[in-house]
Amino acid sequence: MWSGRTFRVCEPEGVPLRDAVADALALPSVLATMLRSLIEAWPEQVYAEPLVTTRFLGQRTTYVCDPRYIRSLLVDQADALAREPFMLRALVPALGTGILTADGPHWREQRRTAAPMFRPERVRGFVPAMAAAAQATRARWLRGGPADGVRDILPEMMRTTFDVIVATMVSGDDALEVEPFGRAIDAYLAQTSWKIAFTMLKAPAWTPHPGRRAGARAARYVRGEVARTVARRRARGEPGADLLGLLLQAVDPETGEGLSDASLVDNLLTFVAAGHETTALALTWTLRVLADHPEIERRVLAEIAGLGGDLAEAPHAVDRLAFTRQVVLEVMRLYPPAPLIVRRAAAEIRLGDTVVPAGQSVHVPVYALHRHRLLWHRPEVFDPDRFAPGPSAARDRYAYLPFGAGPRVCIGMGLALTECLVILATLLPAFRFVPERPGMPAAQFRVTLRPRNGMPMKVVARHDR
Ligand code: HEM
Repeated sequence: MWSGRTFRVCEPEGVPLRDAVADALALPSVLATMLRSLIEAWPEQVYAEPLVTTRFLGQRTTYVCDPRYIRSLLVDQADALAREPFMLRALVPALGTGILTADGPHWREQRRTAAPMFRPERVRGFVPAMAAAAQATRARWLRGGPADGVRDILPEMMRTTFDVIVATMVSGDDALEVEPFGRAIDAYLAQTSWKIAFTMLKAPAWTPHPGRRAGARAARYVRGEVARTVARRRARGEPGADLLGLLLQAVDPETGEGLSDASLVDNLLTFVAAGHETTALALTWTLRVLADHPEIERRVLAEIAGLGGDLAEAPHAVDRLAFTRQVVLEVMRLYPPAPLIVRRAAAEIRLGDTVVPAGQSVHVPVYALHRHRLLWHRPEVFDPDRFAPGPSAARDRYAYLPFGAGPRVCIGMGLALTECLVILATLLPAFRFVPERPGMPAAQFRVTLRPRNGMPMKVVARHDR
């Protein structure tokens, strides 16, 4: 089906003067589009072609949308890839150089050391904490709230997944203060679009932008809080059974070395930042999509009812939520919480006949890949049966990348999926969700894929409770 040809949105050679002038004139509208949603700046061809190369202000970006080339890029040529500078400029001030932002040997050591913590048997151990966080949300909603019952589901899910992160990572006396910590993370993330846009436009790092001061303050606050938590735990001499405790005891299986305090802070913050908003978005989009598909929701409810008990007491029962899992996977096809995977070629990359020179950006536009006309039958239609065992096995692994692929695949994938299932199994039997506005909200790229203007829905307790 794939022709292997390269569609060049840009001219193949040089940057003629007229193009440079045209780029300069287009700058204000391009900046506005990037800030509104980077996805809107993608050329239409990313939904229909295998490879698309664009050029703007003399910079080229190759978008890879063919599963064969994606495998070649993210797996076979992974060693020739580096982190994209705009991502580093957006994230390093808060996250330091943890697993998400580090490259080379520093990344490899941290990844090897932390990997055992995310194995399935460990994740099962976190199910009671996940269920407790979901039950706290259920109790909060049952106690009542806004007179009209309308809640913005995204902050509600962020609160729930943040509770999970705190309970699983730093529990007991060390628990982080949920409200100010969550607010600081939000303030930080809110200004990252400016940093991304300015790096792409080659503006220097000191360029002022809205939210810059608040972002810097937020980074100082979260780093300080986590550093104090690590120091307290070290001083106590008893590591504890949460993720921080596991990280404190973890050693690199190759070198026998543990993580430094700086690495501990970087990685705890990385797990909070990479794990809480993404999972909250998967849940938010799922609740909204289910509201439009009552017949699918009934199948989900029947499956949850079939568990016949509390997941906190039987964590393994989560494996029986096979159809609910298909629903979450299909929602993440249409609304991938991480809609773009970015890399910079550190050495020359070859994708079929196309050569990506060292120094050029090479991106996998996950949102477009998941709606690609050559890969999916009726891509806009929500159909969880695409993820039934048969169709899943028949599909190219690299056509579906909500968690990325290759050595840098999401380390928290199993944790996130389990968390989604536990939270849905707790909330869906208790409430109906009625959208406040007709139609799906537009999806907006803000590092993650957010619903523009939130996700207001009426939360109605089901009568049979
Ligand atoms: C639905 C929820 C989630 C989604 C959609 C998601 C998505 C992703 C994606 C696409 C990547 C690869 C990025 C790339 O290749 O550049 C990634 C990496 C990563 N994720 Fe997740 N993630 C989720 C939840 C989590 C959770 C719960 C954690 C940890 C608690 C986590 C921690 C990480 C880390 C540390 C990396 C970097 C891995 C590396 O570079 O070696 N994520 N995630």
